[in-house]
Amino acid sequence: MASFQIIVGSMLGTTEYVAEACEETLIELGHEATVHLSPNIAEIPYKDQTWLVCTSTHGAGDYPDNIQRFILDLETCEYDLTHTPFLVIGVGDSNYDTFCMAAKNIKKLLVTKGCKQKIELLTLDMDQDIDPELNSQQWLSDHKDHLS
Ligand SMILES: Cc1cc2nc3c(=O)[nH]c(=O)nc-3n(C[C@H](O)[C@H](O)[C@H](O)COP(=O)(O)O)c2cc1C
Repeated sequence: MASFQIIVGSMLGTTEYVAEACEETLIELGHEATVHLSPNIAEIPYKDQTWLVCTSTHGAGDYPDNIQRFILDLETCEYDLTHTPFLVIGVGDSNYDTFCMAAKNIKKLLVTKGCKQKIELLTLDMDQDIDPELNSQQWLSDHKDHLS
């Protein structure tokens, strides 16, 4: 059993639904999960926690507004994150050259902070005819042996 902190970056709501679908699946798989829709680094546990970042990309490869403060705080924080493994799900649109850039950037940032990635980044392309919630849930279930 692991404890997940789900950190959400979303402007229009799609990624919020993805995060909530992931919460449901993680709990079904026997884990604990908490969703942070307005992530504040000071309020998110990190010791022996797994962080699942679900973020869309906006602007020209930018982070959604609601996660920008978290990113700035993460860049400058002095936490020891070596015991904070992570996963990232990116929601984007492949019509943009900067496809899922926010998700790719936070992945790099977490690695520079000493976090270990548990599963390779999942990108969801909203230009395709997909159900992002179902795809995320399937991804977690497919990797269930690597979540603890
Ligand atoms: C103004 C605008 C800019 C966008 N820029 C990007 C981008 O740079 N890269 C990308 O992959 N998707 C981009 N998208 C697509 C969004 O990431 C996509 O619509 C996503 O589903 C939005 O998720 P959200 O509702 O959780 O914010 C952009 C969408 C809008 C409306």
